[in-house]
Amino acid sequence: MPLVTTKEMFEKSMKEHFAIGAFNVNNMEIIQGIVDAASEENSPVILQASSGAIKYARPNYLKKMVEAAVEETNIPIALHLDHGPDFETCKACVDAGFTSVMIDGSKYDFEENVRLTKQVVDYAHAHGVVVEAELGKLAGIEDDVNVSESDAKYTDPDQAAEFVARTGCDSLAIAIGTSHGAYKFKGEAKLRFDILAKVKEKIPNTPIVLHGASTVIPELVEMCNKYGADIPGAKGVPDEILHEASLSGVSKINVDTDLRLAMTAQIRKVFAEEPSTFDPRKYLTPAREEIRKTVAHKIKDVFGSSNKA
Ligand code: G3H
Ligand code: 13P
Ligand code: ZN
Repeated sequence: MPLVTTKEMFEKSMKEHFAIGAFNVNNMEIIQGIVDAASEENSPVILQASSGAIKYARPNYLKKMVEAAVEETNIPIALHLDHGPDFETCKACVDAGFTSVMIDGSKYDFEENVRLTKQVVDYAHAHGVVVEAELGKLAGIEDDVNVSESDAKYTDPDQAAEFVARTGCDSLAIAIGTSHGAYKFKGEAKLRFDILAKVKEKIPNTPIVLHGASTVIPELVEMCNKYGADIPGAKGVPDEILHEASLSGVSKINVDTDLRLAMTAQIRKVFAEEPSTFDPRKYLTPAREEIRKTVAHKIKDVFGSSNKA
């Protein structure tokens, strides 16, 4: 099956109340770990690349590695640009064969976000590509995504309806309390399900996207720290809350941090336990396997997308 857009998988997710995992990819081992898990679970999957990832892996390599994954499997796979910062980046990805792009205009005021999103939608739709947009601001710090906690803002449900009507975007990322990275909550983890419910009421047919949705899996953080990392007090969105989100109208759940932790934990373990090892295959093989296990768990036990391919 060739690369697909997210249209059909989102329609199914809204009808059957499950979510699709969107996993950030940066290299071959990450792509293989994710796709092996999705394939075993017979689940649709979204492979997403940030502009940082595209710069790192280089556009051609990324595209060809994803094509290889698509050739080897029979599940619906979408290739998505994560946090497209401007029209030019989105256009380049549409032209390169991505089937979905995100334009992240959340750093702009409402009117500018509408204008920019609409510009991307017009171009992408003319080329058969779907568009994710964002309204509201997530707190958190990533390489290219940096919003301070005081600047974070929950999505306004009325604005969401106006935004979707005016831009024609295909899916909408909303801010309901998640944030990027490994430090999401100081106290108890909590999401604003009341806002999600109001958004769903206003735009029932628009697939909703949750960014910053890693669990920051405690066992992986512990393993990283045990083998020399310094990641104290990391905290994410627990599985139960993500499961509730998948049943409450969230169609796409974004995960990057958990994959970083999975890979790092296993590489650190090999380095610590086998200091004489210097064959990259010896540490990248368990790293890829940990990614596979992590993704399989999310698909099967949390998002509910097993056998929905
Ligand atoms: O939401 C951001 C993703 O985790 C991607 O991060 O820009 O460092 O690749 P990145
Ligand atoms: P995490 O940092 O929680 O994995 O979020 C990833 C994300 O939202 C990518 O767009
Ligand atoms: Zn994000």
